[in-house]
Amino acid sequence: MSHADEVHETRLVDSYGRGHRDMRISLTDRCSLRCTYCMPADFADWIPSAELLTTDELMFVLEIAVDEGIDEVRLTGGEPLLRPDVVDVVRRINALPRPPRISITTNALRLAGLAGPLRDAGLERVNVSLDTLDRERFKALTHRDRFDDVLAGLAAARAAGLAPVKVNSVLMRGVNEDEAVPMLARALEEDWQLRFIEQMPLDAGGLWNRADMVTAEEILEKLSSAFDITPLPQRGTAPAEEFYVDGGPATVGVIASVTRPFCGTCDRLRLTADGQLRNCLFARDETDLRAVLRDDALTADEREAEVRRRLHSSVLAKLPGHGINDPTFIQPPRPMSAIGG
Ligand code: 5AD
Ligand code: SF4
Repeated sequence: MSHADEVHETRLVDSYGRGHRDMRISLTDRCSLRCTYCMPADFADWIPSAELLTTDELMFVLEIAVDEGIDEVRLTGGEPLLRPDVVDVVRRINALPRPPRISITTNALRLAGLAGPLRDAGLERVNVSLDTLDRERFKALTHRDRFDDVLAGLAAARAAGLAPVKVNSVLMRGVNEDEAVPMLARALEEDWQLRFIEQMPLDAGGLWNRADMVTAEEILEKLSSAFDITPLPQRGTAPAEEFYVDGGPATVGVIASVTRPFCGTCDRLRLTADGQLRNCLFARDETDLRAVLRDDALTADEREAEVRRRLHSSVLAKLPGHGINDPTFIQPPRPMSAIGG
């Protein structure tokens, strides 16, 4: 192995041999929508602003993480584009030694204005959340009348060359499950790479109910009624199972977190907006990095060593899987908006 290969090897290996290369960073828990599966319309349990990591603090952690082997960063929220300095965050990440690939998961409301600047700052891709093609339904599903802003954001992403433009959809029984086929048809037309995500027990209201979840199997069955759907051979560590549509090259993905868990190949770590490291979306324990970053008794070197140590201890404590299907499963205490998608 050459030296170059060696430095790209991740040192963040857990006790099951999984190497970690992908860090999801939540830039804020605030959001401009209120998707029913994420937060109640009157949600008010925000993280106090003083607890949110500053950009300098975030970069301090990320620089260490990249040095340890992270080579892919996904900026999430809440809604990450609500962070006032999001373009600057992307620019600073891109300026790191050995810069990681950078993508953003967004509701796209502010993307029309930001796609170009983000691209120029070094953003590679966006994942846009969109669960319906119907304006009225969008309003009911998100409690905000902003459907047109999402479409404008998607168009801007394409125009800015943020390719491929990925679209995430969560189907809900009796709500939008009739949109599987129309969503895919629209995605083919617009050149979106569509992925359906099984609804996970991560809502702030604790209302998730297995019977209401539209499963990957059902989604594929619906899609097969209108398209020829055939699996791609390679999966890798990506959560999405990809399928050719009508022989390809277009594809559609299904993220079957609940019915076909992919924990065995998970290479992801999460940093919450308030500086807590999570080794799983469903973890019940977090590792406090903010306390280290703000410990005035430490020198910068000691702080760096302690963050590094905690990165490793979090990875080593990672469980083999999320256990959603175990009878003893307990939903994590924080909602998706506070964890980061
Ligand atoms: N189950 C599945 N997907 C969810 N998302 C948010 N909450 C849930 C949930 N409970 C999706 C959003 C976004 C991505 C970050 O995760 O729609 O696309
Ligand atoms: Fe906002 Fe995303 Fe939650 Fe919807 S799912 S309310 S867009 S954080």
